[in-house]
Amino acid sequence: MQNLEYLIPGAQADFVSCTTITDLENAKAKYLGKSGALTGAMKGLGKLSAEERPAAGAAINMVKQAIEEALKHRREALLNVEQDKQLASESLDVTLPARMHAQGGLHPVTMTLQRVEALFHSIGFSVATGPEIETDFYNFTALNIPENHPARAMHDTFYVDSGDGKHEQVLRTHTSPVQVHYMEDAIKNNTEFPLKIIASGRVYRVDSDATHSPMFHQVEGLWVDDHISFANLKGVVQDFLRRFFERDDLTVRFRPSFFPFTEPSAEMDMSWNDGWLEIGGCGMVHPEVLKHVGIDSEQYRGFAFGLGIERLTMLRYGVNDLRHFFNNDLRFLQQFTKWKN
Ligand code: PHE
Repeated sequence: MQNLEYLIPGAQADFVSCTTITDLENAKAKYLGKSGALTGAMKGLGKLSAEERPAAGAAINMVKQAIEEALKHRREALLNVEQDKQLASESLDVTLPARMHAQGGLHPVTMTLQRVEALFHSIGFSVATGPEIETDFYNFTALNIPENHPARAMHDTFYVDSGDGKHEQVLRTHTSPVQVHYMEDAIKNNTEFPLKIIASGRVYRVDSDATHSPMFHQVEGLWVDDHISFANLKGVVQDFLRRFFERDDLTVRFRPSFFPFTEPSAEMDMSWNDGWLEIGGCGMVHPEVLKHVGIDSEQYRGFAFGLGIERLTMLRYGVNDLRHFFNNDLRFLQQFTKWKN
C-alpha cells in the first residue's frame, strides 16, 4: 500500500493558504471528506490481507491525525482573526456620558394616603377597603338615606346604567359605605370589639372646578366600642391633624351639621393661618346604621369621620388648585420627589 505521508505537507500548505473558515472547510474535504484521499485509503484497507492490515491502518491513522492537527491549528487561528475583526468593528466609546435613569416618585395624593394610613395605624386602626362601584343600598340606604330622601340631593351621584333602565349601582359618592361593609363582616365573623378602621380611596361626584374634581379621595374613620364618645372623636381627629401637619398648636373646631348616618353630626374645621378651614364631616354613628348591620345600639356606640385627602395634600404642600393633581404634568409632579413621607 502506498505511503501517504507525502499528503501532510500538502495539506498544511493548503490549510495555511485559506483565509476564511469556509475556505478551510472546503480544503478539508479534499483530504478527509467522503471522496478525500484518506477516506479512499481507508476503504482500500479491506482489500489487504489480515497480516498487512494493522500496519497499513496505523500508517493511515498517523497521517490522518497529522492532517486533523493542521486543520485544528488553522481553524483556531482563523477564528481568532475573525473575533479580533468583530471586536474592532464593535468598539465602544467609553467616553460617552451614561444614560441616566429618571428618578421616579409617588403621586402627592398617594403620599398623603400612605401618611394618613401610617398615622392611624400607629394608634391601632386597621385599614379596610370597599368597592368603588357600589350598590345604591350600601351607598345610601344602609346609611339611613332611603330612596326619595332629600339628603340624596347632597350627593351629585354618577349612576351606573345596568342596561335595563335600572340604576341600582353608583360610583360611590363617599367612603362611608365601607363602614357598613366592615361592620357587617365583623358581625358575621364574630370580630372582637372595638371595631377600629380607616378606609381610604377614590370617590366620585358630578362636580368640577378649582376645588372640586369628579373623582377625589376620602379617608373614612370608624371606631365602635361600648364607651366611645364625641370627646374621643375630637381627640383622635385633633391628634391626627397635629401629627399630620407637624403642628402642636393646631386645634379642631366642630360645627353642628347634618348627616343622615350620624347623630349628632358635625363639620370639622381646623385652625389655619389665623382662620378656620373645613376638612371633613363627622359624628356619632346613627343607631339606625348600627341596626342595619346587626349591632346592638344600646350596648355599642361609635364615631365616624370623613376627611378629604386632596384638601390635606393641598395644605401640606401649598398647592392652590386641585386640578394640578390630575393633569399629569411632570413639572408639577416632579416637585414632590424630594419629600419624605
Ligand atoms: N360621608 C360624608 C361625606 O362624604 C362625611 C362623613 C363621614 C360624615 C363620616 C360623617 C361621618 O360628606
